[in-house]
Amino acid sequence: MSAQHLESHPQWSTRLAFILASAGSAVGLGNIWKFPYIMGDNGGGAFVLIYLACLLIVATPILISEVMLGRRSRSNPISGMAKLSRQAGVSPAWQLIGWMGVLTGFLILSYYSVVMGWALAYVEKAANGAFVGADADTVEGIFTSLVSNPGTLLFWHTVAMLMTITVVARGVRGGLELATRIMMPLLIVILVLLFGYNIGTSGFAPAMEFMFAPDFSRVTGETVLVALGHAFFTLSLGMGAIMVYGSYMPANASIVTAGFWIIVLDTAIALLAGMVIFPIVFSNGMSPEQGAGLVFQTLPLALGAMEWGYWLAIVLFILVSIAAWTSAISLVEPAVSYLYERFGVRRLYSAIGAGVATWTLGVFSALSFNLIDEVTLFGKTFFGIMEFLTANILLPAGGMLIALFAAWRLRRADSAEELGLGGGAYHLWWWLAAVVAPAGVALVFLNGLGLLG
Ligand code: PHE
Repeated sequence: MSAQHLESHPQWSTRLAFILASAGSAVGLGNIWKFPYIMGDNGGGAFVLIYLACLLIVATPILISEVMLGRRSRSNPISGMAKLSRQAGVSPAWQLIGWMGVLTGFLILSYYSVVMGWALAYVEKAANGAFVGADADTVEGIFTSLVSNPGTLLFWHTVAMLMTITVVARGVRGGLELATRIMMPLLIVILVLLFGYNIGTSGFAPAMEFMFAPDFSRVTGETVLVALGHAFFTLSLGMGAIMVYGSYMPANASIVTAGFWIIVLDTAIALLAGMVIFPIVFSNGMSPEQGAGLVFQTLPLALGAMEWGYWLAIVLFILVSIAAWTSAISLVEPAVSYLYERFGVRRLYSAIGAGVATWTLGVFSALSFNLIDEVTLFGKTFFGIMEFLTANILLPAGGMLIALFAAWRLRRADSAEELGLGGGAYHLWWWLAAVVAPAGVALVFLNGLGLLG
C-alpha cells in the first residue's frame, strides 16, 4: 500500500457534512422509484412491516459496523480491509469484502444510471409541458414510448454517467458536500408539499390502507428476500459506499448518532414517497402493481392536474435526478478511491475508466427494455436480473461479511473505541452484529432461494 497516497485521504468538513452526504447516498431512486413499486408488487402493508423489521434488526447494526470499519481504516474499502485484517492478525482474505463491494457498485450503477436517465428525460418532458392536463393513458404512453426507444434511453444513460463521473472526478469536498447540503432539504420540502396536496384526495384513505394494513396472505419467501434486499439497497449498505464515506468522517463524530440520522431520514423519505404516490394511484383508478414504471406514470398524472403542476413537475424530476445523482456518485467512489490510493491513478482518469466500463454494461440494461426484452432468465430481463442479483444477493452477502468481520475479527477494544460505546450499548451492538444480523440474512437467503429454485 502506498503511504504517500494515504496521506491525502480526504475528510468531510463537518459531522453534518458526513450525515448529509451519506443520506444523499442513501436517499435515491431506491426511496422514490423502487420502494413504491416493489411495495406495490408485493402487496403493500405486510411488505412495509417486514421491511421495517429488516431495517431495524439487520440493517442498523450493519450500517454502524460498516461506518466503523471505514473510519477505523481511513482508507478505500479494498486497502482498508487489508489493513484492518493485518492489524487484527486475521486472514487477508477478508479483503474480499472490498473487492465484492467494488464489483457490486459497478453492477448497480450500470442499471441505476439507466433509471437516472429516465428521471433526466422526464425533466425535459416536463419542461415541454408534456404532462399538463394529461390523462392516465397519455402518461402511460409517454413512459412506454421512452423505454421502447433504444436511442433515447442510451442518450440519457450517457448523460447520467457523465454527470456522475464529473462529480467523482472533482473529489470529496469539491461538489458532493455542497450539492447534498442544498438538495436534501429541498427534496423533503417538495415531498411534504405533494403529500399535503394528496391528503384531500379520494385515493388517500385506500392508499393508507394499502400501505399500513398488512395482508400476510401475500407474503412468500421471495417477499422477505426482497424486503431485506431493499433494506440494504436503500441504505447503500454492503458494498463499501458507506465504508468509504465513513473513512472520510471526522474523528470526533459519533458513529451511532450519525447512523441514527441516516436511517431516520432515509425511512421517512421512503414512506413519504409512498404516501405521495399511492393516493394518486388509487384516486385515478390505477393499479399499484405497475412495476418499474410506477413512479414515472403516477407523478406526472397528479402534477398534470395541479395548478402549479407545470413547474412542480419540472422541480420534482430535477430533484429525483439529483437524489439519484448523489447516490450514483457513491456507487463508484469505492472503486475510484481504490485506483487513486493504491496506484496513484488521478481521480479524473480513475473516474473515466470506471465510468466507461459501467456505461458499457449499462447498455444491456437499457436495451433490455426494447431490443433484447425477449432475452430472459427465470422470467427476468437483463435489467431485472441485475436488480435481483445485486440488491437481493450481493448486498445482503456483503453486509453479512461486514458484520461478521466487525464483530468476530476486529479486536473488541478497537471496535468499542471506534464506536465510542461501552457497557450495555456496546453489547447490544455486538450481539446484533455478531449473531442476529448474520443469522437473519442467512435465514432469509435459505427461505427465499428455496422457494425460488
Ligand atoms: N441507496 C441508494 C438508493 O436508495 C442506492 C445505492 C445502493 C447507492 C448502494 C449506493 C450504494 O437509491
